[in-house]
Amino acid sequence: MYRKLIKPLLFSLTIERAHRVALLLLRGIGLIPGGLWLLRKCYAVKHSALEREVFGIRFPNPVGLAAGFDRNGEALRPLSALGFGFVEIGTVTPRPQAGNPRPRVFRLPKDRAIVNRIGIANRGLDATVRHLRRGHEGILVGCNIGKNTDTPPENAPADYLRLFRNLYQYADYFTVNISCDNACHDEKTYTRGHLLSILDPLFDFRRGQSEYRPVMLKISPDLSDEEIDRVTDVLMSTPLDGIVASNGSHGSRQGLRTSRTSLDKIGSGRLSGAPLTRRAAEIVRRIRTRSGGTYPIIGAGGLMSPDDVRAMLDAGADLVQIYTGFVYEGPGFAGDICRALIADAERAAQAQAAVPVQNTASDAPAGPNSSAGPDTPSGTDAAAGMTTEQQARLPQEPATKA
Ligand SMILES: Cc1cc2nc3c(=O)[nH]c(=O)nc-3n(C[C@H](O)[C@H](O)[C@H](O)COP(=O)(O)O)c2cc1C
Repeated sequence: MYRKLIKPLLFSLTIERAHRVALLLLRGIGLIPGGLWLLRKCYAVKHSALEREVFGIRFPNPVGLAAGFDRNGEALRPLSALGFGFVEIGTVTPRPQAGNPRPRVFRLPKDRAIVNRIGIANRGLDATVRHLRRGHEGILVGCNIGKNTDTPPENAPADYLRLFRNLYQYADYFTVNISCDNACHDEKTYTRGHLLSILDPLFDFRRGQSEYRPVMLKISPDLSDEEIDRVTDVLMSTPLDGIVASNGSHGSRQGLRTSRTSLDKIGSGRLSGAPLTRRAAEIVRRIRTRSGGTYPIIGAGGLMSPDDVRAMLDAGADLVQIYTGFVYEGPGFAGDICRALIADAERAAQAQAAVPVQNTASDAPAGPNSSAGPDTPSGTDAAAGMTTEQQARLPQEPATKA
C-alpha cells in the first residue's frame, strides 16, 4: 500500500511538505484509539535476537531514526510504533530558528539521495521540553543538540550546556552535533581544544547528577583520516561515550547519476543516502580499529537496505540510524531490517547447533556486535554492555533510568 499509494502521493509533494504531512499523519494516527497498536502490529518487530546492550542501555533493536526527522520530539510514539529501537530527536538549538530560505531540501531519486541545507530549523529548547514532558515511557530517546546559528563561536559552549542541563532528565542519551550546517567544518572544528571546550562543561554537569546520560559526538563524513583519528583519540582519553558516524556530506558530488544541471540548480547542501554508504562504513571501521572496539559507535549514512545495515554492523557499529532510507523505503523499513537481522541470528544459531560438541560455545561464531560474543573487546563488561572505563564514569550511586 505504501509503495503503490502513499509513496507516489508523498513524492508528488516537495520533500519538506511531504515530511510535514508524514509527521502530521503519524501524530494523527497516534491520537486515534488503537492507532499506535495498529502501527505496531503492522510494522514493529520484536525478538530477543535484536536486543542490544549499548552504553548501559538495553535497546529493543539496533535500528534508530536519525536526527532531523523529528526535530522537536513531536511524534515519538508513532515513530517508535514503526519499529525503531530508538529515536534521536533534534538537532535542537536553545532558541527557535527558521533555518535557511526554501526550497532547501531536495530528492535525488536517481541516486537514492537527499540534499539538504535546512540550517537546523527547529522550534527550540522550550518547545522540545514541552513535547518531552508528555512522557515517552518505553521509548528510548536521544537528544541531538546544537548551537544557534547566530551564536558566536566563543558562546557555543554555553548553548550546548544550556541544552544539556535542560534536557538532561528527558533524554536517554545525548548527541553533540558540531557537524551541521550552522557549525560548519573548518580546520578548527575537530581540534581537541575546540571539542573539549564544548564537551568539558557537559561532563562537569553530568558529574553532579545521580543519573548517567551517555554523550555521543556526531561527526561529518568529510573528515580526513587524520581528523577521524584525532576525534577517536578524544573519545579514548575523555569521558566522551561514543561517536555517531556520520552526518550528510558537503563533499564531492562526482559520480552521481543526477545531471550536473540539476545539481547546479539545487545548489549547496549536505548529501545523504546511497552515495554515503561506503564512506560511512569506512569511517566506522577506522574508529573501531583505532579505539580497539571498546567504545560505542552509532553508524549512520547511506543505510538503504538490510545489506547496508549488515555491512555497517560488520564494520563495527553497535547501533545504526537511518534517515534517507526511511524516506525512500517507507514506514516498513525498520521492520524489514529487523527481520533480516533475526534471520541472520537464526542462521548463526543453526550453524552453531551444527558444530560438533567438542567445539564449545566459546568457539562458535558470533556477530561482531554480539554483546556477549567472543569478539567482545577486553576491558568490556559484556553483561552491562559498558567498558570498565565507562562504568568508572558512573556516579557513585547506581544510576537508575527515568
Ligand atoms: C532532511 C535532513 C535533515 C537532517 N537534519 C539533521 C539535523 O538536524 N541534525 C543532525 O545531526 N543530522 C541531520 N541530518 C543527518 C541525518 O541525521 C543523517 O546523519 C544523515 O542524513 C546520514 O544518514 P542517511 O544517509 O541515512 O540519511 C539530516 C538529514 C536530512 C536528509
